[in-house]
Formats: sequence, C-alpha cells, structure tokens
Amino acid sequence: MPAPPRTDTSALLDGRPRRLLIGGRWVDAASGRTFPSVNPSNGEVIAELARADARDAGRAVAAAREAFEGPWSRAKPRERQALLLALADVVDEHYDELRHLESLDMGLPIGRPRSGRTPAWEAEILRYFAGWATKIHGETIPNSVPGSVFSYTLKEPMGVVAAIVPWNRPVSNAVWKIAPVLATGCTMVLKPAEEAGLVAVRLGELLAEAGVPDGVVNVLTGFGEEAGAALVAHPGVDKVAFTGSTAVGQEIVRASAGNLKRLSLELGGKSPDIVFADADLSRAVPGAAMGVFYNSGQVCCAGTRIYVERPVYDEFVEGVSRFAEKLKVGDSMDPQTKIGPLVSAEQLDRVAGYLDLGPKEGVRTAFGGRRIETGELANGYFVQPTVFADVQDTMRIAREEIFGPVACVLPFDTPEEAVTRANDTSYGLAGGVWTRDVGKAHRMARELRAGTVWVNSMLLMDPAVPFGGYKMSGWGREMGQHALDEYLDVKSVWIDTD
Ligand code: NAI
Ligand code: MG
Repeated sequence: MPAPPRTDTSALLDGRPRRLLIGGRWVDAASGRTFPSVNPSNGEVIAELARADARDAGRAVAAAREAFEGPWSRAKPRERQALLLALADVVDEHYDELRHLESLDMGLPIGRPRSGRTPAWEAEILRYFAGWATKIHGETIPNSVPGSVFSYTLKEPMGVVAAIVPWNRPVSNAVWKIAPVLATGCTMVLKPAEEAGLVAVRLGELLAEAGVPDGVVNVLTGFGEEAGAALVAHPGVDKVAFTGSTAVGQEIVRASAGNLKRLSLELGGKSPDIVFADADLSRAVPGAAMGVFYNSGQVCCAGTRIYVERPVYDEFVEGVSRFAEKLKVGDSMDPQTKIGPLVSAEQLDRVAGYLDLGPKEGVRTAFGGRRIETGELANGYFVQPTVFADVQDTMRIAREEIFGPVACVLPFDTPEEAVTRANDTSYGLAGGVWTRDVGKAHRMARELRAGTVWVNSMLLMDPAVPFGGYKMSGWGREMGQHALDEYLDVKSVWIDTD
C-alpha cells in the first residue's frame, strides 16, 4: 500500500488518553474513565478518549454559560467575523491532518475527492458564516397603536447550545454547528459521536489556536446515553442542535421538554432518486450509484430508493452493477480505495442484517450482497457495495434507513406513479431526478416532498444553500441564511415616545 500523505497527527495519537475541553482547559472526566476509539479498517484501537458523564456535562454547561454572560456576549459583530475567519484559516492550514484523522477514525477513504467542489469545504463554511456575523439585525416595524409609539426587533443569540453530532463526516458534523454558533454569539458544548471523537478533540485544540475565547466552545467526548442525554436534560442548555437518527431525535424531543429547549434536528432519510428513460444514462448511472455508495452509504441524504422508468430499467440495473463491481473496497488509508469500511462493528451488524433480509424479502441481488469476512480486510467492518433489483415498495429494505452501501432499484411506468411512490415514506430529507426534459425536472422538483431536490446530480452542497428535512427527517435548516434563525431569538421592543 502506498504511504499515506504526511500529517502531524502523531501528537494526538501518542497513546495518552485525550481529555475533555471545558472552559478552555483540558481535563479528565470526573469519573476518570476513558473509552477506545477504533480504526474501522482493522479494528485496532487508535486512541483512548475521556468518557464524560452527567457531572462533566454540568461543568461544561456552566463554562458555556459563564462564557455566554462574559465579554463574548458583548463582542462586536466584526470581532465574531474576524474570529470565524481566523478559525477558517487554521482549519485550512490543518485540513490534511483533519482529513487524515477522519479517515483513520471513521473510515472515509483518504483518496476521496474534496467535497462540495471546493478545496477546503469546512473552511469555506466558516468563511460563509463569517460573512453573516456582521449582517444579523432586526427591523423597524411601523405599528398602528394610537400615539407616537416606536417598535423594532432585535435578534439575540439563544444562549448555550448543546450540539450533538454523529460520526459520518466528523469535520463537517462539528463545523456545521460551530459556524452558526460563533456567527450568532451563542456558546456551545459539542458532543461528538462515540464512534469517531478524535476530530472534535483536534478541532478543540485548533479553536484555541484561532483565538476562540475560553468556554465559548467546549468539547465533551462520551456516549449518547450518558453525556448526550445529560446535556439534553440539563436545564442550563437553551437549545439542542442535533444530527443523527430519527429514533434519537424523537427521544431528544421528549427528553428536552423539561425547560422546553429550542431544537433543530437533522435526522435520517430514505431518499428517492428517479431516473427517467430520457436521462443521459452515462451520467445517471455513476451519479445515482455514488448517490448511494459515497462514504459507504453512511450519508443521511443518500438516494437509496432508485426508481427507474421501465424502458431503461434493465440497462440501468446492469450499468449500476458494473459500476459497483469496479469500486475498490479497501483500507481507508489506501489512496486507491473507493469504498471504505462501515464505522463500527455495530453498524456492520446492522447493515449485514439488511443484506440478509433483502433476498429473504424476495429481491434479486444484481451485485454484492455480502460482508467481507476473509482476506486482508477480515478484521475491519466491510461489506460489498450492493445492488438489489426488483425491490417492492413495501419491503423493509425499501422503507428503513440502512446507512450502508445498499441500492434498492425499483421499476416505474409513469411520472405520476413515480412521485406517489417516491413520497410514500415517513422521511423527507432529499430526492433526485435524472431527465433531459426541463419541464419534467421542474415539475418533479415541486412535487417531491423533501428538503432538497437534485436534478441530474446528487449530494451537491454549498454553505449558502439551506439543508434540512421535511416530515420525519427533521426540524429546521442548516447552512444558508435560514441556519442563523435556528440560533437566534427575536425580541420586540416598544417605545412610547409621547
Ligand atoms: P445516533 O442517533 O444514536 O447517534 C447520533 C448522536 O446522538 C451521537 O453523538 C450519540 O452519542 C448521540 N446520542 C445517542 N443517544 C442519545 C440520547 N439518548 N441522548 C442524547 N444524545 C444521544 O446514531 P447511531 O447510533 O450512531 O446510528 C444509528 C443509525 O442512525 C444509523 O444506522 C443511521 O440509520 C442513523 N444515522 C443518521 C445520521 C444522519 O446524518 N441523519 C447520522 C448517524 C446515524
Ligand atoms: Mg447510537
């Protein structure tokens, strides 16, 4: 295997347990306990991380509160902007290192293209929100109250945010929350997923390098049921910004009711991707395939239900199967790898369960269908990219989020039928359409009940374009101007000037 790119992650992986960032200081968990972070390509432990519990959550929330009420809340918009720009530069500078950690800890292939079609996508997100920091303002609103009464609004930061994030893109998962928090003047406790916490720890170190004041961003590594649940229940938290499974999203709605926390939820999906017979199949085949297989299918907005118009159905199934066959499955640190491991043994078991279920439900396995249990990948958490054909809408594999590289392909006959079946899901995160007919493209874009529709493309994202779910895929939007509202309260002020 060729040598991986040079990085300076060695300091982080020196064998010493990594600690919690609370109030600008690195501290052990109150319990003194740690847990291992594992390389999913080979099952080896790469680091020990502090295991936060409710006591640590309490300390972190107190630090975030103190920072919120301190000089940070009086920071001028331009200071917050400068801070975001400085952090963007630091992230840029350390981008290869962060990507390296992401590959090692989570399993994203090191040779993956830089996403968003921009070089350092997460740095660009920080720069985008830096722009907003100086453009957050209320309105003067004429009222009809008798006399001379002046009314206006103020936009104020919500306060202490608990950001609970998953593991599927560790740098993005964290930066999507850090950027609007800093732009709006909130403070936060970041709880990365237990499966891949190293990136958040490294980001915690880089925050200090960029000059983020102590306590404005705190980092708690630990488990969902311990650190995560403690944050959600904590009365000192004003808002929870969550990305993860719909089941945990529902649990957070219930558990946050005590002080009626503000919530934004970016949850699961089972997104449809509709391929019409008039599509350019030379683009639709690889586009739809990577819309499922990218990041081994561990993508919330993956287009996993591929509806194909009957005249091109066989050709499409064959094309996607040949495409899947050519994808190299391998160690995440091998630059040739296109499909890395799943994040954990638990996730492997879940996905393997669906691979077994498909044939039992009666699908035709056009390609793949197996976990990889022999050879040099045997110790890692690998499955083959899989194409299930002749899938029925009612099958569990067509209804449940698998979060693995599993494409379900289903034939359809009319656009109306495609829309009805595509929308017949409790989710609504995204949808895809492949056609050369611009009228059809616009019609489908309107009729799909989802927060994002891609036409002749999949998975495109930009910091300026909102992202979020309809239905059970979530509440609120990230990215774009809408994301700011998730972190701001609106205050109306009345002044009787008589
Ligand atoms: P999860 O929803 O359990 O974990 C996401 C985050 O929530 C992690 O930081 C976890 O520690 C935390 N968490 C878990 N239980 C919590 C609780 N009771 N209170 C507060 N925080 C809690 O997702 P998991 O177990 O990693 O994956 C299971 C499935 O969820 C996947 O197979 C996939 O279908 C879906 N998922 C969807 C994601 C998305 O981006 N929409 C991301 C990750 C998983
Ligand atoms: Mg979990």
